Amino acid sequence: MLAGVKTGQITKDAADAVVVLHFEKENEGRDDAPEIRNALKRAEWTGEKSNLVETFRANGEREQRLLIAGLGAREKFNAETLRDVSAAVGRRLAAAKAETVFVDIAALFDAETLPEKLTADGQAWGESLGLLTWEGKAFAGSATNIKPKPELTVSSGNPAFDEGIADGLLLAESVNFARSLSQTPPNVATPLWMAEQAQKLSKLTGLQCRILQGEELETERLQGLVTVGKASEHPPCLIRLAYTPEKPTGDPPVVILGKTITYDTGGLSLKVNNGMVGMKRDKDGGCAVLGTMHAVATLIKPDVPVIGLLVAAENCVSDNSMRPDDVITYRNGVTVEITNTDAEGRLVLADGLCWACEVEKARAIVDLATLTGGVVTALGSTFAGLFCDDDALRADLEAASDSSGERIWRLPLHAEYREMLKSPVADIINSNPNRKAHPIQGAAFLEHFVTEGTPWAHIDIAGVHAVDADAGAFIKGPTGWGVRLLAAWLARQTSSI
Ligand code: BES
Ligand code: ZN
Ligand code: ZN
Repeated sequence: MLAGVKTGQITKDAADAVVVLHFEKENEGRDDAPEIRNALKRAEWTGEKSNLVETFRANGEREQRLLIAGLGAREKFNAETLRDVSAAVGRRLAAAKAETVFVDIAALFDAETLPEKLTADGQAWGESLGLLTWEGKAFAGSATNIKPKPELTVSSGNPAFDEGIADGLLLAESVNFARSLSQTPPNVATPLWMAEQAQKLSKLTGLQCRILQGEELETERLQGLVTVGKASEHPPCLIRLAYTPEKPTGDPPVVILGKTITYDTGGLSLKVNNGMVGMKRDKDGGCAVLGTMHAVATLIKPDVPVIGLLVAAENCVSDNSMRPDDVITYRNGVTVEITNTDAEGRLVLADGLCWACEVEKARAIVDLATLTGGVVTALGSTFAGLFCDDDALRADLEAASDSSGERIWRLPLHAEYREMLKSPVADIINSNPNRKAHPIQGAAFLEHFVTEGTPWAHIDIAGVHAVDADAGAFIKGPTGWGVRLLAAWLARQTSSI
């Protein structure tokens, strides 16, 4: 939609377009230009969120576009309002081929407006504009005619808001990076291709990168990766990215872990009908972890160490497939009877959780995974499912969710769900064939691989990692869900030492 967006010195007079933010039912008492006052009298103006009314004013030789953008009711306003309005405005400006825009944010001021609040508002504004620059057409060939798109320069004239816009644009780059990885087809995006992308990121940003593959997976007893990945000609790997703060504190790291199944056929428990289409996006937990590590290195720079782990494998069918009835032993000693090879995400995540606890000695772990179709049935695309019984971690994630706009809804963990996973031959099965509480079964399975006392959250993103139609700042396709939530969460982390 937009080729690119940047901030710059644009005055109100010189801009191609001026966007005037306006709350509902606040037409009076403002110092608006006559053209705007007239436009506000038109029936099409409701002031509702994202209601846009356009007018023009003579400006020397040319006409200047004035775009009045509704913010809805002042009482309901928050950063998410600005994300929605900015997306609507950005789409309109792209269609109008505007190249410079001035945003009049007078409506956002009240008696106690602090610069930090304006920076947060600016970030929300910049995020959506940045997300609109993603097209996902890296694989367009000679039969596609890609039209040139405008480059947009934006300013509000307010340093705090403009600084926020710049931050938002940077964060959107991290989200767009995750989206581009998700979009890459599975014949290209193999586990080792994902590892190469992590290596490239590390060279670009100074993060440390380590890849464990082949024999090393065996010696480290990462049995989930070995088992799930063995049917594919594209071998599995564990990808580890490490961020060290400028002033190392000796704190244990926080670990973010992503399910990275580069393609999920279901394995021998093969997916049927159309259930396989789109399973290139079964790596989106890992894509979001890479996107977040990009944000950590370029924007957030927290004062605690952060480790990003991707458990990468392809769930394929061959004469070397894992079978329903196989039993495997994890590095923490837990044995698993595989009852369904399509419940493969938890098998590889278990390795990541063992590693995070035992090797990294994580002070907290958050995993992101497109784990179950059941969470889509339960929560649709509105909320991701959150499993977290650690009150402090949950409160922190909920605060990050509020500020980032990526919504999470708590689902329960309980000993009774663990009962459902008892195996007659091993410790646990990977999936109960009953049709009960599948997202919770997934979380209850993962719980077995987290050391007692380690704060842990599992987020099932199967409903939110992609949208099936254009929505807000997104076009149909991947959303990079999790980058903004985890970035906001990591920005809140402070050294405990
Ligand atoms: N990758 C799927 C889950 C999924 C479904 C992601 C729809 C995105 C959209 C996962 O590996 C899977 O197949 N889960 C099974 C679990 C079942 C076998 C216990 C499911 O949800 O049906
Ligand atoms: Zn599966
Ligand atoms: Zn899967």
